[in-house]
Amino acid sequence: MKTIRFGIIGAGLMGREFASAAARWCHLKDMPTRPELVAVCDTNVALRAWYSEHFATVTQSTDDYRELLANPNVDAVYVALPHNLHQEVYCAAIDAGKHLMGEKPFGIDRAANESILAAARRNPKTFVRCSSEFPFYPAVQQIGRMIESGELGTIIEAETGFLHSSDMDPDKPVNWKRTIEANGEYGVMGDLGMHACHVPFRAGWQPKNVRAILSDIVPQRPDGQGGMAPCRTWDNATLLCETLDPVTQATFPWTLRTYRIAPGEKNTWYVRILGTRTSVRFSTKNPRRLDVLRYSPGDEQAWQQIDTGAETAYPVLTGGIFECGFTDIILQMWAAYCYELHHGKPISRFAGCVTPDEVAMSHALFTAALVSHKTTAAVEVRADD
Ligand SMILES: NC(=O)c1ccc[n+]([C@@H]2O[C@H](COP(=O)([O-])OP(=O)(O)OC[C@H]3O[C@@H](n4cnc5c(N)ncnc54)[C@H](O)[C@@H]3O)[C@@H](O)[C@H]2O)c1
Repeated sequence: MKTIRFGIIGAGLMGREFASAAARWCHLKDMPTRPELVAVCDTNVALRAWYSEHFATVTQSTDDYRELLANPNVDAVYVALPHNLHQEVYCAAIDAGKHLMGEKPFGIDRAANESILAAARRNPKTFVRCSSEFPFYPAVQQIGRMIESGELGTIIEAETGFLHSSDMDPDKPVNWKRTIEANGEYGVMGDLGMHACHVPFRAGWQPKNVRAILSDIVPQRPDGQGGMAPCRTWDNATLLCETLDPVTQATFPWTLRTYRIAPGEKNTWYVRILGTRTSVRFSTKNPRRLDVLRYSPGDEQAWQQIDTGAETAYPVLTGGIFECGFTDIILQMWAAYCYELHHGKPISRFAGCVTPDEVAMSHALFTAALVSHKTTAAVEVRADD
């Protein structure tokens, strides 16, 4: 099995999720490659100590990402930093010839994203992908196969979204994810939007225009030092897009919701697609359940509930009857990255990580959404600007 030597830049929440997935690599069957964690960079020394404690393979621990990128023993990097650092560090990583898995939104705004994508074009031998794990739930993989086969018929409408309640408490202190400077003008769209775009974009669906309504529900928060600080990022975003399915040439409404303040929703990612022949819906609230409605004229219209198990895109040791959770889909996403790096393509169409073109489309959409909210008008989504 070929080894890919990884460095992590930004060793916080998501950095540790990757490290943990790499430590559980033996759970995957038939993988051609495996990641080995050799270097860690974070300005927080205590966090780096966790990696040294758990990973004997880590031989470099630094607070300077340039040192990590200069390490010839690092083949690939996972960068999970605040959004204001994406452009600088992603470009430096790609220009250093490292393969990159970058966190979304892949640049704090469209200009930053374009600069990262230009670096990728300058270095075509580097493999560049963006993180997004929810399509790796077995039920969503099934939905992907149904889209690919044309089984849904003409799309009537689609809804995708990511709702959570991490900001419900107005007394929760502000952090980098709640400031425009570090998180960006996109606000919640930058945090959660890619998760809601991955399946539609992989389906090839193209948003033509968007009407967005954005909400800043909690405009200030405790600053953690006894005072209050402005919290000007958008908490919730609802986007309605006229969307083209290039397969049928039909357009349909696609509603995309990303909420940080969603009562009753702890961390809910969902997809619902109505088709003229088959309709499907899935939500992580019930992670093993796939609902399918197959329409035949004259028959009852009945939603079937299918219990999915561990039928993952990349085979695992877990018995087929057992359910999948967040850490399992993170492992699947990393399997997808390593598999595609090795083979040049994912194991199947919907089992691939977000591509630079898909990232560019998300920035076109979120940029248009900002204008739409400001002007209270539908705005064209210009993918080629
Ligand atoms: N895919 C997902 O499900 C998911 C979930 C959460 C966050 N994210 C994304 O991951 C990225 C990081 O988010 P997180 O939740 O892990 O944040 P985090 O705050 O937990 O981690 C960020 C880390 O970056 C470090 N850091 C800050 N400045 C640095 C610098 N100059 N050099 C080195 N290290 C520095 C911080 O010390 C911190 O440990 C963001 O892009 C976010 O949108 C993705």
